[in-house]
Amino acid sequence: MSHSKESDELIFFVNGKKVIERNADPEVNLLFYLRKVIRLTGTKYSCGGGDCGACTVMISRYHPVSEKISHFSVAACLVPICSLHGAAVTTVEGIGSTKTRIHPVQERIAKGHGTQCGFCTPGMVMSIYTLLRSHPEPSMEQIMETLSGNLCRCTGYRAIVESVKSFGPSSSCCQMNGRWKCCLDEDKNEPKKRASLCTKLYEKEEFQPLDPTQELIFPPELMRMAKDPQKRALTFRGERTTWIAPGTLKDLLELKMKHPSAPLVIGNTSLGLAMKFKDVSYPIIISPARILELFAVTNTKEGLTLGAGLSLTQVKDILADVVSRLPKERTQMYCALLKHLRTLAGQQIRNMASIGGHIISRQPTSDLNPVLGVGNCILNVASTEGTQQIPLNDRFLARLPGASLKPNQVLVSVFVPLSKKWEFVSAFRQAPRHQNALAVVNAGMRVVFKENTSTVTDLSILYGGIGTTVVSANKSCQQLIGRCWDEELLNEACRMVLEEISLPPSAPGGMVNYRKTLTTSFLYKFYLDVLRQLKMRDPCRYPDISKNLLRILEDFPLTMPHGMQSFKAVDSQQPLRDPVGRPIMHQSGIKHATGEAGFCDDMSALAEELFLAVVTSSKPHARIISLDASEALASPGVVDVITAQDVPGDNGREEESLYAQDEVICVGQIVCAVAADSYAHAKQATKRVKVLYKDVEPVIVTVQDALRYESFIGPEKKLEQGNLQSAFQCVDQILEGEVHFGGQEHFYMETQSVRVVPKAEDKQMDIYVSSQDAAFTQEMVARTLGIPKNRINCHVKRVGGAFGGKSSKPGLLAGVAAVAAHKTGRPIRFILERGDDMLITGGRHPLLGKYKIGFMNNGKIKAADIQFYINGGCTPDDSELVIEYALLKLENAYKIPNLRVRGRVCKTNLPSNTAFRGFGFPQGAFVTETWVSAVAAKCHLPPEKVRELNMYKTIDRTIHKQEFDPKNLIRCWETCMENSSYYCRKKAVDEFNQQSFWKKRGIAIIPMKFSVGFPKTFYYQAAALVQIYTDGSVLVAHGGVELGQGINTKMIQVASRELKIPMSYIHLDEMNTMTVPNTVATAGSVGADVNGRAVQNACQILMERLEPIMSRNPNGTWEEWVNEAFIQSISLSTTGYFRGYKADMDWEKGEGDIYPYFVFGAACSEVEIDCLTGAHKNIRTDIVMDGSFSINPAVDIGQIEGAFVQGLGLYTLEELRYSPEGVLHTRGPNQYKIPSVTDVPEEFHVSLLTPTENPKAIYSSKGLGEAAMFLGSSVFFAIADAVAAARKERGLPPIWAMNSPATAELIRMACEDQFTNLVPQTDSKCCKPWSVPVA
Ligand SMILES: Cc1cc2nc3c(=O)[nH]c(=O)nc-3n(C[C@H](O)[C@H](O)[C@H](O)COP(=O)(O)OP(=O)(O)OC[C@H]3O[C@@H](n4cnc5c(N)ncnc54)[C@H](O)[C@@H]3O)c2cc1C
Ligand code: FES
Ligand code: FES
Repeated sequence: MSHSKESDELIFFVNGKKVIERNADPEVNLLFYLRKVIRLTGTKYSCGGGDCGACTVMISRYHPVSEKISHFSVAACLVPICSLHGAAVTTVEGIGSTKTRIHPVQERIAKGHGTQCGFCTPGMVMSIYTLLRSHPEPSMEQIMETLSGNLCRCTGYRAIVESVKSFGPSSSCCQMNGRWKCCLDEDKNEPKKRASLCTKLYEKEEFQPLDPTQELIFPPELMRMAKDPQKRALTFRGERTTWIAPGTLKDLLELKMKHPSAPLVIGNTSLGLAMKFKDVSYPIIISPARILELFAVTNTKEGLTLGAGLSLTQVKDILADVVSRLPKERTQMYCALLKHLRTLAGQQIRNMASIGGHIISRQPTSDLNPVLGVGNCILNVASTEGTQQIPLNDRFLARLPGASLKPNQVLVSVFVPLSKKWEFVSAFRQAPRHQNALAVVNAGMRVVFKENTSTVTDLSILYGGIGTTVVSANKSCQQLIGRCWDEELLNEACRMVLEEISLPPSAPGGMVNYRKTLTTSFLYKFYLDVLRQLKMRDPCRYPDISKNLLRILEDFPLTMPHGMQSFKAVDSQQPLRDPVGRPIMHQSGIKHATGEAGFCDDMSALAEELFLAVVTSSKPHARIISLDASEALASPGVVDVITAQDVPGDNGREEESLYAQDEVICVGQIVCAVAADSYAHAKQATKRVKVLYKDVEPVIVTVQDALRYESFIGPEKKLEQGNLQSAFQCVDQILEGEVHFGGQEHFYMETQSVRVVPKAEDKQMDIYVSSQDAAFTQEMVARTLGIPKNRINCHVKRVGGAFGGKSSKPGLLAGVAAVAAHKTGRPIRFILERGDDMLITGGRHPLLGKYKIGFMNNGKIKAADIQFYINGGCTPDDSELVIEYALLKLENAYKIPNLRVRGRVCKTNLPSNTAFRGFGFPQGAFVTETWVSAVAAKCHLPPEKVRELNMYKTIDRTIHKQEFDPKNLIRCWETCMENSSYYCRKKAVDEFNQQSFWKKRGIAIIPMKFSVGFPKTFYYQAAALVQIYTDGSVLVAHGGVELGQGINTKMIQVASRELKIPMSYIHLDEMNTMTVPNTVATAGSVGADVNGRAVQNACQILMERLEPIMSRNPNGTWEEWVNEAFIQSISLSTTGYFRGYKADMDWEKGEGDIYPYFVFGAACSEVEIDCLTGAHKNIRTDIVMDGSFSINPAVDIGQIEGAFVQGLGLYTLEELRYSPEGVLHTRGPNQYKIPSVTDVPEEFHVSLLTPTENPKAIYSSKGLGEAAMFLGSSVFFAIADAVAAARKERGLPPIWAMNSPATAELIRMACEDQFTNLVPQTDSKCCKPWSVPVA
């Protein structure tokens, strides 16, 4: 850290220990300080922008006036350390550890199976811990609000919620916990019927109670500091910025006078983002956090005056208190604000962000400003020249001259008036996700009536999300004054607003027609809401409103997911010691929860270590004319700039270069790298590298472009059965169509990370990498450096989520880092920032599916001709395999006698797409379910009937001629039908829909046949090394990587059973390429299958060696036998090997017995949609999976739940947006929304089918890592069902373009009505859209 003699001492506490920082740099955030300066690495970096919660810590402060200590969670990545003077910080390390005692929160999240990869876990733990510090028995709402700021990509959240719920108040009802129905309406026969099933994944009784007396006390020294506050200004000087924290308002105003362009920082959630992502820097920052006037609250009979420094959480609590005490008609404004304060950002951001910062930053998507702006609020500002009152109105929000604060003014407080009797205020917002997502469009609306009439005397409407500022529909409002609140007014208002609020067709953010539609949809909601309230006041005076319409005014409730997980209990004869089949906690669960589990970037820096940042191409297709790195080389801390010229061996593989050479083929391709003494220095220097490009034609971005230019990777792949031509001639109907399927970002919580350490001798290098494929990484580094593989040792301790995205890409990134290490001779740390990770590494392949289906009027499908095109991006990567899988698996559960499927990989100028959980199946099978649904719609038949009719029923062959028995497919389907009470609920859905016009429900049940594995035998091989030490302890190493999927836990279970020793004897350390060579990627759902066989093999060899000793001394102990073996010079170490399953595909013949076995399943989902906004609520999902004999039901159910929720994201939420030039717009969790806890179905049941034999896999288990991803499509089809109900009621055609994902935009625009029809259609050819679909 930089320093200056004039800096004050920054004093704060971390985990009870005093920190005195004499060189506090205002640009350093708490996360960096914790991780890199004081080496507390439990708190994780994942996004850096406050969106993911991985960096959550607790801050405690003592308030001298109230004499209270407050605890609140924050996103450490946005907390400047200088803001911490006088605060106590608690991190995950401070609440418990395996060395001392673990905290009940840590214990419950681990034992409740709420951790998989563990990367999100410390953040989760700290959010929950902070909640419990203030609310030891939290309510459902508090729990959900707390968790909404924390993302998890692995678990599907249910298990996390369960562990927090265990702290909540107990209820007299079972809350569905462990039952199919609430205990209050349980069928008396039910328990008997399910007696063989087990539903207990952990022992609640084991949990330690929460004991608040055990928590760290607030440091008395900080209390003394707070009581005796220094009034003099504190100054902290950094490398580029000086932080000044005045002690009095007078000093603050003088400072602001002296430095008018210096920003005031309170929450830093707006300014911090600009500094981090837009590279804005300020020479001076002023912190008003010590100015008491900014935190004052005054409550008069006119309204509330809120200090500008109050956090949004504090404002929420103050408003809630007033609302609870005053009549509703007085608190219209406060209720509208409260509505948004519940969903705005995550809890951590609400705790940090100030109301003043929110108002002043005037962000175009601000949720509060449109509401405050319609409500006659007043800003109380001050400067050395005196005080002033500025109206917070449309002019202020539009940043008009004369309506804003002057540069030397400070916002002291805001006055928010109480509402008058005939005044109505409402707030609306529609975001891509229920919580923690910026609104697409939001609005504040206010109307005032002449007393006892419906004549409008005042009307204001403000919209956010439409332009570069909040915009007003002032002209329209003025024209409506004096009018009566009736339908005529509504119609006119909609027309006028659409005219007044302009949104050009190429507006940033896209979704132009949707956004316009939302403006009038909100207006309609407001109209209805006000009418309802008027009617409630005087039922006789106002017209009746149909009940069918009113349901739309109820927002989707914030509900806590709950449900049952059922599996077969182990045989009662199984020895207690034998852990196989039991729900054992993740081997690293506790360490995840205490933050002790180390990830790649948690390793301490070595002497001389350098940090790498990369320069990426800004052009989709261009020649590199020149690269000038001179300025970068002269930048502070820079050691070297590395380019393609520095690569001693191969610069990449196939067409994929490590460093671009002469030409770039996508935006985001690595051009060169800067190695510097800190990441900040490396990053700053990358901006000084000058690259001159010359554009090259063509630029191919979409599948359509690729078809036009015939740009493909590899030949067309084809599979065919039956006689298509003659089948089409005999069918009753033929249906043709196409469906577009968007890609998906892996969004592993741990970004791509690698650390390369060159060794002194023989060109050796150690690579520490977050990779699913250590051997491939080893190979890439060896090839890049031109040295044999035996000099490179790749280590993988654990991976913070991978999902296919860490198969091939880490190899390339390790190659990039290895060249830098080779050139500089120094260790290199290369950790991708989230934005770079999303930009560079590609994701799931977008797909265009075209179909022609021939079927009979009874729904029997006779013929299908299918064509797939996937967008492979700019290099082959795994794209050819992905298209093969999509073809091989497309039929899903259906026997189509005459079927032809062809597929091509399109080569485009997008970053190269790669492996992703499900590997082509989620795309291919989705297209199939789309046309099966379309056939049902054409035949006017229920979709489940058409599915049943066409499903495989008896032993048969797949399209690639592999024989299989669909018995368990049928069982899953029938069990799912039964568990979900499908027909009963379908009837209820229909009834609901008849009674509700604007909200519709939908239900869908989807079957699944998923084949695990790879189409080549060698992919299935696996090896292990098992060593017994003379004290009896056992060390197991195997070729699989722990990605969070619990492979290590399962391997310990296998070794424990085979060696007949308790699991505590067995240890598993990192995976590395020296211990187990020539491994294959941990992928394809078979990691535990094949590595389990290898571990089993090794254990059996060792047991064979020990057997003579054991039989000579049957009463001996394990330790005695092992010692005896040592004495007899019997080797206690061996490798185990599994050759793999036989699998070969003959593409010429279209035949192959490629898959060792199939996983069957079914899922039924129910949703409710809001036809006016496109929002939806996941009501319930029931999953039944054929998991055979699960080695670990907790791990397997966790995989099912996690994959399902990731699938739900794929099919309904996650949308990658590309510009027409192929620039990825969505580069972080602020723009790309993965499911959060509020997206999990309210009722979420998972059951493993009662076991059947699977002789192919170890202990008759099945690999369940990927399959359930596809079952997320049941939510999509439930949405489609709800949309169909809306369309039917509106007399629209039953078949429409329902592409994936079913985002709010797509749902809204499919539910066509008078509001969508009002929006004039733009001619897409006349302007360049902001984004284009790439499939
Ligand atoms: C992850 C994330 C999610 C978010 N989600 C949402 C959302 O869903 N909806 C939404 O509406 N917003 C959202 N926001 C925006 C958030 O509400 C604002 O960033 C926040 O309210 C700004 O407050 P702050 O205290 O952090 O401001 P700061 O960043 O500290 O300051 C912002 C600006 O205000 C000025 N300023 C601050 N106080 C004063 C004062 N007293 N007098 C004069 N000038 C002052 C500063 O000079 C600076 O220019 C989100 C932000 C993040 C980081
Ligand atoms: S890393 Fe701080 S919120 Fe994501
Ligand atoms: S366990 Fe939550 S991200 Fe992996």
